[in-house]
Amino acid sequence: MNYYNDQSTKNYPHAFLNDVLTGLSRSERYIPPCWLYDDVGSKIFELITDLPEYYVTRTEMSIFHKISSDFAQIIGPNASLVEYGAGGAVKARIFLDAFIDPAKYVAIDISFDHLEKSLNELDLDYPDLHVHALAGDFISGTIQTNLEHETQRVGFFPGSTIGNLTDEEISQFLRRARNYLGEEAYFILGADLKKSPDILIPAYDDAQGVTADFNMNLLNRINRELDGTINPERFSHKAVWNEELSRIEMHLESLQDQTFEVAGQTFDIAQGDTIHTENSRKFQRAELDEIIAKNGWEMIRYETDQDAHFAVMLLKAA
Ligand SMILES: C[S@@+](CC[C@H](N)C(=O)[O-])C[C@H]1O[C@@H](n2cnc3c(N)ncnc32)[C@H](O)[C@@H]1O
Repeated sequence: MNYYNDQSTKNYPHAFLNDVLTGLSRSERYIPPCWLYDDVGSKIFELITDLPEYYVTRTEMSIFHKISSDFAQIIGPNASLVEYGAGGAVKARIFLDAFIDPAKYVAIDISFDHLEKSLNELDLDYPDLHVHALAGDFISGTIQTNLEHETQRVGFFPGSTIGNLTDEEISQFLRRARNYLGEEAYFILGADLKKSPDILIPAYDDAQGVTADFNMNLLNRINRELDGTINPERFSHKAVWNEELSRIEMHLESLQDQTFEVAGQTFDIAQGDTIHTENSRKFQRAELDEIIAKNGWEMIRYETDQDAHFAVMLLKAA
């Protein structure tokens, strides 16, 4: 397995410090969601994927199992699968198993250690596959891996990670992926669909408090890595449905008026004020059609589960 660390673009840990200091200084405090994923955060996220309330992973995987051989026939042999935000690299296995003689698997993730461990396991299970792990930012990072011209390139962006991005980031991401993957490329995209808040809110605020731990880990990470003095017990996890913007928002709500430091800078936060840590947008078909068409791709398959809770799409470079 090849392992690259993309220091040049996201410039970690400087970028983390910068995003935290900037985000905490804004009147509406916001820290980008990519920082929820260090080694601890990624492990907690994997626990979330097994929760009864978190329908996302099992629904998407059931669609993958249903459509993977159809997609494999369309895509053809000798594929290079490039996964953005690979995490535990579990879902890719469904397509690697279905593809005809897959050539290469490139996995990009900002959670460096977790990615390396996941791909070490995958590498052992797929001895004939070229496996490349790339630690970096999939929005602004450079992918330092050459995809051989003779392979069929396939982008892969599951888990509705697209719903964590802003409109601007979605456009930047899809266009860059189109440029990198090239003219004949395919792209497999998973996106969560709009549904009742009665289903959505528990999915992001589960009874066992695992999602709360995931969110709170950001505070611990700031303390660990950025010399923070935050007392996590003075915050609580909050998941809110924003109907207007069709998204679940995760926040950390301050339980009292308080002051803390990060890297020597002092911050005050009043009781009831929040630090916004993640958006998970829920899409409708027409929005997905528009997003895809205007960013260099054509939708050739659109598959959902029976309840239309989740959509899996096959795109072709336009
Ligand atoms: C919602 S999880 C999905 C994980 C896995 N693909 C799945 O479907 O279960 C998002 C993944 O993307 C990674 N990630 C988030 N923002 C990122 C960024 N800007 N650049 C690279 N990886 C990122 C996280 O570390 C995490 O592994």
